[in-house]
Amino acid sequence: MSRKYLIAGNWKMNMSASESVDLISEINSLVGQQIHTQVCICPPFTSLQKSSSLVEQSEVHLGAQNMSSEPSGAFTGEISAGMLRDLYVTFVILGHSERREYFGESNQSINRKVLAAVENNLKPIYCIGETLEERESDQTLAVIKTQIYEGLANYPLSEVDNLVLAYEPVWAIGTGKTATNEMAQEVHAYVRKLLTDIFGDTAASGVRILYGGSMKPENAKGLLAQPDVDGGLIGGASLNARSFCSIVEAATGD
Ligand code: 13P
Repeated sequence: MSRKYLIAGNWKMNMSASESVDLISEINSLVGQQIHTQVCICPPFTSLQKSSSLVEQSEVHLGAQNMSSEPSGAFTGEISAGMLRDLYVTFVILGHSERREYFGESNQSINRKVLAAVENNLKPIYCIGETLEERESDQTLAVIKTQIYEGLANYPLSEVDNLVLAYEPVWAIGTGKTATNEMAQEVHAYVRKLLTDIFGDTAASGVRILYGGSMKPENAKGLLAQPDVDGGLIGGASLNARSFCSIVEAATGD
């Protein structure tokens, strides 16, 4: 099955609402009308409202970086799926390694968020990946397997079309170290095998698996050429419109 590339920018805790306006305007002018590659930006919550009016007339989609698994109520500081939908958010990054490491998120708590996202018509970008220690002790595939089975427990087959995975080796995030093309393909192929075991061949062959971790214009082409790499989740390079858009162009083949 042919899968449309998805290039998503994870801005993390960067860009005020007014700075976001400038960055989105530049992204819009560079890639806002192209439809070959799907483009998504994930600014901080405080920029979502302004961003949603800016991307309304373009092909750029809006994503959030996290959300609560709860629908509403006494959860100070949290943001629900319904609140995101109201701002025309379509994607939500869940289980990013920074959430796992600094905010105590587990496969189980992330699983509740993944299920809440799809129940509310949001497309989860579920992040998985091993630490350096895990890679060096040959545990990469075992860690990935547990993250997939626990994080996607009870995920409905009817919603597999809306599922996106992001393989982000923790040692490659923000470090300038990238997985080689072969390392990325090995894990991506394994992820697809696990998805096939869970959801069946047809459904699994349509799921996009993004690579994240120091992806930049210089290495994007090689990574995106791998058969099971269906896009990128970009951190640092997504804060500069030109770098981000040249990754989009690498996916589009321009
Ligand atoms: P960098 O591209 O800055 O390494 O970050 C990757 C990432 O964490 C995207 O979610």
